[in-house]
Amino acid sequence: MRERWLNRPAFVFAAVGSAVGLGNLWRFPYVCYSNGGGAFLIPYFVALLTCGIPLMMLEIGLGQMMQSSAPFSWRGVGKRWEWVGWWPTWIALIIVGYYTVIMAWCWNYLYHSFSLGWGKDAQGFFYHDVLRVSEGPGDVGGLVWPLLAGLILSCIIMGLIIYRGPERISKVVLWTVPLPIILITILMVRGLTLPGAMDGLEFYLTPDFSALTRSQVWVQAYSQVFFSLSLAMGVMIVYASHKPRNSDVTGNAFIVSLADCGISFLCGLTIFSILGYMAHTTGAAVPDVVSSGIGLAFITIPTAIELLPTLSTLFGVVFFLALLTLAIDSAFSLIEVNTAAFMDKWGLTRRRATGMVSIIALAMGLLYSTNGGIYWLDIVDHFINNFGLAAAGLVEVLLIGWFFGTKRFKKFINPISDIKTGLWWDVMIKFVTPVVLGYSLIRYFIDEVEVAYGDYPLKFLLLGGWGMALLVLVAAIAVSKLKSHHHP
Ligand code: PFF
Repeated sequence: MRERWLNRPAFVFAAVGSAVGLGNLWRFPYVCYSNGGGAFLIPYFVALLTCGIPLMMLEIGLGQMMQSSAPFSWRGVGKRWEWVGWWPTWIALIIVGYYTVIMAWCWNYLYHSFSLGWGKDAQGFFYHDVLRVSEGPGDVGGLVWPLLAGLILSCIIMGLIIYRGPERISKVVLWTVPLPIILITILMVRGLTLPGAMDGLEFYLTPDFSALTRSQVWVQAYSQVFFSLSLAMGVMIVYASHKPRNSDVTGNAFIVSLADCGISFLCGLTIFSILGYMAHTTGAAVPDVVSSGIGLAFITIPTAIELLPTLSTLFGVVFFLALLTLAIDSAFSLIEVNTAAFMDKWGLTRRRATGMVSIIALAMGLLYSTNGGIYWLDIVDHFINNFGLAAAGLVEVLLIGWFFGTKRFKKFINPISDIKTGLWWDVMIKFVTPVVLGYSLIRYFIDEVEVAYGDYPLKFLLLGGWGMALLVLVAAIAVSKLKSHHHP
């Protein structure tokens, strides 16, 4: 008997929990910010409609149809295609390896926010006090103990949730989904009432149509949608496989996608009003108040918190608690992808599979918890996200669009769904999404070869970037050739 969600809304909660994560409060605002604020919103919505929602339907539909983990759902499409499911499974494992370390940063910041430990120098605090960063990726140094503690804590919590399967996830997400939304709303109200907030919002919401001609903006919008909706990573396939085979597909896909996008929008309102406030107090212009990506959550916001006239400690605690509660259900969804695949492939019990995956995640996290960890995190994240997601997504749409057949797929999802999908879906899956993803991949490839990422010495990029991306693919093919427990 396949494990099931406790009740109907549980799937939607769990899927929203996976989708809504650091990608909303941390990644969305900075990607938006670095692409010119308002200029980003139009490509983002287009990406959501043309790629995000159609792919969400595909993944939920596939999981439901095949009632299996990602590798075996793809094996159901065709015997040769099991590797197509292992690929995102391994990508998920690599991502969870550092996602938990970012959670470890959050644990540390939660602790420090009680005393506003970063003081006036949030940047120095982040790099020197929290990360204790070394000179470069070649100088790994030793383990940073407070980070290790946060990492262990994250892995234990995730293991405890996942080892009881969808039943326990159903209960946990009832808390971990609404809680951060409430916390974000509190932050938003505080942000919007700060002086200067309107300047921030103006930057966020004024569309700049000239940016629409820049291809980079489009590529970034598509990858943000993918990452944010937890697509091309097997999560939605596995989560949907715990639903009854004949339950609604398209309605759920719309709810999950729109909820995620709506929450990103709220997070944008929050962060941009805070940026407006910072510009107001420091006298800088809104586009110049922050410089880097990762720094947004761990440097800019702490700086803003320090500047707050009242209740700054409370604001800090709420912010980092929101980040943690956002992250936890995304992180355990990545673990679940692997747990489910291990169970199907080798006939392991859930307990054992969870234990193995959590320990592997912990072991991988060790590298990122060292003095040189942030460099490796940056390299791995860049390559695995940019290449891995787009490439895995491309193979998915090609297989369903051209091998399995969109008509056949719709024959399955339409009768069981309230909203019927029309021709637009075929067009998106067969043409639009493959073209966009194919283009993004080629574009990234050229950019990457032309300019080595982030000034790192080539050998580290080859190892942690190109090597890792290739290794994941080879490992996927290799594992798919091994004998499976249930599927001879
Ligand atoms: N969607 C998550 C976020 O926005 O933070 C990140 C994520 C979780 C991506 C799970 C992929 C995934 F499978």
